[in-house]
Amino acid sequence: MKEILNRQWWKEGIVYQIYPRSFQDTTGNGVGDIKGIIQRLDYIKSLGVDIIWLNPIYQSPNDDNGYDISDYRNIMAEFGTMEDFDSLLEGMKTRGLKLVMDLVVNHSSDEHYWFQESRKSRDNPYRDYYHWWPAEKGTPPKRWSYFDVDANAWKYDATTDAYYLHYFSVKQPDLNWENPKLRQEVYSLMNFWFEKGVDGFRMDVISFISKDPNFPEIPEKYNGNYVPFYAAGPRLHEFLHEMHTESLGKYDVMSVGEAPGVFLEDALNFVNEDREELNMFFHFDLMSLDRKEGEVFWMRDGNWKLSEFKKVHSNWDEVFAKKGWGSMFLSNHDFPRSNSRWGNDSAAHWYNSTTMLQTFLLSMRGTPYFYYGDEIGMTNIRFDKIEDYRDINTINRYELAKNNGESLEDFIANEKEASRDNARTPMQWDSSNHAGFTEVTPWIKVNKNYQEGITVADQEGDKDSVLSYFKRMTQLRKDHLTLVYGDYTLLQETNEQVYMYLRTWNKERYLVALNFSTKFSRIEIDEVSFEKGRLLISNDMDNAESLIPGTFLELQPYQAVIYSLE
Ligand code: NOJ
Repeated sequence: MKEILNRQWWKEGIVYQIYPRSFQDTTGNGVGDIKGIIQRLDYIKSLGVDIIWLNPIYQSPNDDNGYDISDYRNIMAEFGTMEDFDSLLEGMKTRGLKLVMDLVVNHSSDEHYWFQESRKSRDNPYRDYYHWWPAEKGTPPKRWSYFDVDANAWKYDATTDAYYLHYFSVKQPDLNWENPKLRQEVYSLMNFWFEKGVDGFRMDVISFISKDPNFPEIPEKYNGNYVPFYAAGPRLHEFLHEMHTESLGKYDVMSVGEAPGVFLEDALNFVNEDREELNMFFHFDLMSLDRKEGEVFWMRDGNWKLSEFKKVHSNWDEVFAKKGWGSMFLSNHDFPRSNSRWGNDSAAHWYNSTTMLQTFLLSMRGTPYFYYGDEIGMTNIRFDKIEDYRDINTINRYELAKNNGESLEDFIANEKEASRDNARTPMQWDSSNHAGFTEVTPWIKVNKNYQEGITVADQEGDKDSVLSYFKRMTQLRKDHLTLVYGDYTLLQETNEQVYMYLRTWNKERYLVALNFSTKFSRIEIDEVSFEKGRLLISNDMDNAESLIPGTFLELQPYQAVIYSLE
């Protein structure tokens, strides 16, 4: 594989995302903590993953579970101390694991010192750390807010008779990147963590940081769709390049931006190496596939189609084929569980569909990101009472729906599939009380299926478990660099049941076939010529006949196979 240029650890690594609040409680307060992660490092290492991405662990009043930071250089008391953090980092380094932290700098908490000062007076030195609209100019042009009870991103503040901007909750005021002092604060805090030995950042809504400070009315071409408008700030690329110069470029670190509103056409402007901005980003084309057009939180009517799913991945693979690099994910803390969403979590199909999706992520080009619990097949909890929800997003939108006289029944029905809390339930370690996550009542309910085998303890010793398959598959990716860097060729483009593709490099060729349906499928392999097909892995060994040239490939429901072709 020496012909491959530009090999990087963050291209070859497999990422494991941890939502610290839900991973492991060691203090008996029902909330996960850093010591809990330390306790589980051997487990994490055993998965064959290389990089841990931690959701925010900084000091925060937790309006949005840590995405509202009140001190960027301190640890949230609920999670532990800086000493705990240092031990975590050391424990990871000893095991050869890299650490990626969350960087949340589109906004801070309203309890951050900067904002406390900023709101005091119009001439406070921190005034311009945030976006203010003086009331004498009238009502500011409409901006939509994700979590606001009125969906309004401007909040009036009487102290200085002005409105401040908050794309997210009222407790998450947007930072003003026009201000060079603010930008230097950000680079300095990034360097603070890099100097400690952190290996990179996942950057929260980084596509939103640049705003036209005149706040014009939103141009018509956006057709009322705020997200792409928010991502089209006039100085975005200038800021990212500056961030690279002042921070990222000085270290051997990885950067992955969360980039709602960024589409294929713009992709390389972020990650083309020559531009010195970011390494990777998360696009939202897949995440919006099962949503209503232009809607972030509402499920669409009718099912998504496999041809659409293939198209998203094929298009994004192509855009990074020569420059830049992609990121592959099916779930995270903002979306439902992957098998409940893209597979099928019914008893009959849970095993095959979970392992099929693992096979998919681990056989595509681009860095794969797994979310804690994906390795044992954790599923959506589907809360049907508003009282069970903890997420500000669901709670505030419920209020909004109520105030607008909308059907609350429809609202809950939607949240059962779409809510972020589906993915935030405690990690299922064993079948003891609260799944071994805590000894007291956890901050959010545990999924009852921890009593039905969806735990680490149940699966660890079982060679046929989802967990064991996951480990085999991570190893397989490591053993076959072609699965990381090789070309991707889509086969069977219009087949609505089976996703099939080749990964090739020089003479090496791998055929991946994934049945995304509840039905048996028989496919004629007429698009590729080969003499012999050697089976590398299958999630259904009872039905894994060798692939014979000129014959059919038969796949059971949700079966996944990878063959090496000769
Ligand atoms: C995206 C994060 O992933 C999400 O969890 C958070 O609520 C918003 N950004 C606001 O920070």
